Amino acid sequence: MEPFNRPYMTGREFVYIAEAYANGVLAGDGAFTKKCHELLAQQIGCAKALLTHSCTAALEMSAMLADVTPGDEVIMPSYTFASTANAFVLRGGVPVFVDIRPDTLNLDETLVEAAITARTKAIVPVHYAGVGCEMDELMGIAQRHGLKVIEDAAQAYGSTYRGRPLGSIGELGCLSFHETKNVISGEGGALLINDATLAERAEIIREKGTNRSAFFRGQVDKYTWVDAGSSYLPGELIAAFLWAQLQQGEDITRRRLGIWQHYYDGLATLEERGWLRRPIVPAHCTHNAHMFYVLLPSLATRQEVIRRMREAGVSPVFHYVPLHSSPAGRRFGRTATPMPHTDSLSDRLLRLPLWIGVDRDLVLRTFIDACTAVCNTSS
Ligand SMILES: Cc1ncc(COP(=O)(O)O)c(C=O)c1O
Repeated sequence: MEPFNRPYMTGREFVYIAEAYANGVLAGDGAFTKKCHELLAQQIGCAKALLTHSCTAALEMSAMLADVTPGDEVIMPSYTFASTANAFVLRGGVPVFVDIRPDTLNLDETLVEAAITARTKAIVPVHYAGVGCEMDELMGIAQRHGLKVIEDAAQAYGSTYRGRPLGSIGELGCLSFHETKNVISGEGGALLINDATLAERAEIIREKGTNRSAFFRGQVDKYTWVDAGSSYLPGELIAAFLWAQLQQGEDITRRRLGIWQHYYDGLATLEERGWLRRPIVPAHCTHNAHMFYVLLPSLATRQEVIRRMREAGVSPVFHYVPLHSSPAGRRFGRTATPMPHTDSLSDRLLRLPLWIGVDRDLVLRTFIDACTAVCNTSS
């Protein structure tokens, strides 16, 4: 069976893990964590980068930094992973779901302003498939209404919008290094802080509400509990693993882009026949080939294509159950707009396996055979 994902290892992970072992520092914020912080801040161009144990953790920290309190509203797409909403629900916030654009499947910026109320605190654009949301428009809206913008860049390490790395544009950005992402540490993530005034509090929240980071820098003579917080920092072994990956970030993106382009070119004819739609990447965005998806004509077509591909030994997947129709989404959130695109696209989207080492010809051929058989019968 050709799996949907297989984590890519650079070969240097063990070397750095052995070094961390020899250093004898296993808790967070040791030498490897610091190196990752510096490299990420340099690559992304943010004021400060802090490793977290997941993107979910970075989103939770963002909700605290945005001072989300019970009843505050946060505007986001419904077509996203549960963590985008959950982080704010944990603070008593209300996710307010807005429909997505049919081209990029990102938050439709033209619908955002009408969703703002007196309780709105933040906008959370999700850069789906590593393709940027319309950040200029979203930042303009946020500025006019005094809102924070928190980029859910879980899928977007290595992508840019108008030449700027994703995650560097809102006040805060959140990355994921989960093993299904491009650059990985098993579980892992980072909070990117672009508004430097939030940096000190972010360190405190991440270190159990204490000013321990300032203490280690010699800025205070003892450390103590100064604010609400939790433990959001990963240990050094994770940071050592990530260090190997971050150094190879560009190479990983380049190799994934090769597979993405192979699928894209190979499916041009099927798109011409009207059997599917390939991903759309606006000219002002570069993407990181985090995923390759197609949109099929109907739910029934997708399910039959998946069945046939699995039978032929290849594992495609689909996602998400839109949050506005999920049990928790209905309980904790509300929709601000009708959701025609979210509902339709989530039924029709299919993702092809995309990982370094995947048998790209097998995947493409299997998909084309399944799609041709199903679409020929139904047309
Ligand atoms: C859009 C989005 N946000 C948040 C997350 C959560 O990331 P993590 O697993 O690192 O917590 C994911 C994970 O897939 C995601 O795709």
